[in-house]
Amino acid sequence: MKGRLRIIAVDDNPSTLEVVARLLSPHGHTVRTAASLGEAMGMFHQTPADLVITDLRMPGQDGLAVVQAVREASPDTEVIMLTGYPSVENAVDAMRLGATEYLTKPFTAEELLAAVGRCAVRIERRQAMAAEAPAPDGLLGASPAMRRVFALIHKAAASSATVLVSGESGTGKELVARAIHYQSPRRAQAFVPVNCSAIPETLVESELFGHVQGAFTGATRSRAGFFELAAGGTIFLDEIGDASPSLQAKLLRVLQSKEFCLVGSSKTRTVDARVIAATHKDLPALVRQGTFREDLYYRVQVLEIHVPALRERGTDVLLLTRFFCQRFAQEFGRPEPRLSDAALAALERYPWPGNVRELENLIHRLLLLVDRDVIEIGDLPPHIRAATPMRETAFVPRTLAEVEAEHIRAVMGYVGGNKSRAAEILGIDRKTLREKLRRIGEDMAL
Ligand SMILES: Nc1ncnc2c1ncn2[C@@H]1O[C@H](COP(=O)(O)OP(=O)(O)OP(=O)(O)O)[C@@H](O)[C@H]1O
Ligand SMILES: [Mg+2]
Repeated sequence: MKGRLRIIAVDDNPSTLEVVARLLSPHGHTVRTAASLGEAMGMFHQTPADLVITDLRMPGQDGLAVVQAVREASPDTEVIMLTGYPSVENAVDAMRLGATEYLTKPFTAEELLAAVGRCAVRIERRQAMAAEAPAPDGLLGASPAMRRVFALIHKAAASSATVLVSGESGTGKELVARAIHYQSPRRAQAFVPVNCSAIPETLVESELFGHVQGAFTGATRSRAGFFELAAGGTIFLDEIGDASPSLQAKLLRVLQSKEFCLVGSSKTRTVDARVIAATHKDLPALVRQGTFREDLYYRVQVLEIHVPALRERGTDVLLLTRFFCQRFAQEFGRPEPRLSDAALAALERYPWPGNVRELENLIHRLLLLVDRDVIEIGDLPPHIRAATPMRETAFVPRTLAEVEAEHIRAVMGYVGGNKSRAAEILGIDRKTLREKLRRIGEDMAL
């Protein structure tokens, strides 16, 4: 279940085990306790754990042996090392063997919960990256926002209604349009993309509808237009928000009458092309400004699919990162690199104004420039790195009492232990503060 971990705590001191279980169980974690390495590994082999919390010094054995045994049994299990005898060597040894967190006794409830919270973030991140995500027609996504898009694509594919695909630049609007076409009964016929911002004004009509031989100077033979090429299939009017007034007028006419004439001919032909339009612009705003025809807007927007920005898709960023790493690694014939936790955290936090295209380009560049097995935070461009706070702060569900305790401690630190000033800042009297400090002191004792 999300955020709820299977935990094994190992310590020869029953009171530490009790404290750990008492602090973590109310947060939905399952805590099993063991007094020795042997007992812990017995439990582990019965039912694996997401997290092992181990004491460093236990009679007759060493917490480092626990770290090693857990690592060998399951490389993805997180390990928190606890020690009453902090030393740099111990910390370095523990981390080298694969402990992911290191806490010195006595630790506060907040410290333990924060460390467990950071483990939970890494575990969820790994699960998100490994998830089997649906990818209809190359559109990858597992977030609720993308699942809604997939459902709409499915609906749109079942009808021939005109669809407007909206969304920021780089969100995958063209992929959505293709997915509709390839899921529809028209899939065996052509999908014809037309960039509405790139048709020269003088050629609009002949590009869209084609012309007969001799229709104008240079028309040495007759030529089919986009609508005819898309017969039985789909015409994709990309960047429709940039269509010139004359293009808008011609599109409106063909959408209304379902008929057109080749340039130089008076014979009308019937259109059998499904129309999908896309824009990154705010069409209703263009209508209000008078640069986009209202009647055309209503014609194209029979069904609208809004493609969400990448920053609204949660852990899809991780899925896509992994997908592009695999794709470019294969393309460049190199092993697929891993991204460090700090690097992944930065990618999760960055707002991606250029959306999926920006992420795709970034991974492309990283795989060209970095030939190490692990891509570190330092390999990312500064503007993406800057989106990382100094410390990874996972959300830890806590009681008001815990939040209050942490805030009181922070204020006490800020005023250098001066209770009168602290009471003033907190807006309580000295007596209440003393009372609260006494209670926190009890809570803190481990
Ligand atoms: N969900 C997705 N899964 C995999 N690749 C994606 C996804 N969304 C977008 N892409 C990739 O991102 C790039 C940009 O997508 P696309 O060209 O469809 O965006 P767009 O919305 O049409 O952008 P623009 O408004 O700039 O035209 C493409 O290379 C596309 O393959
Ligand atoms: Mg596009």
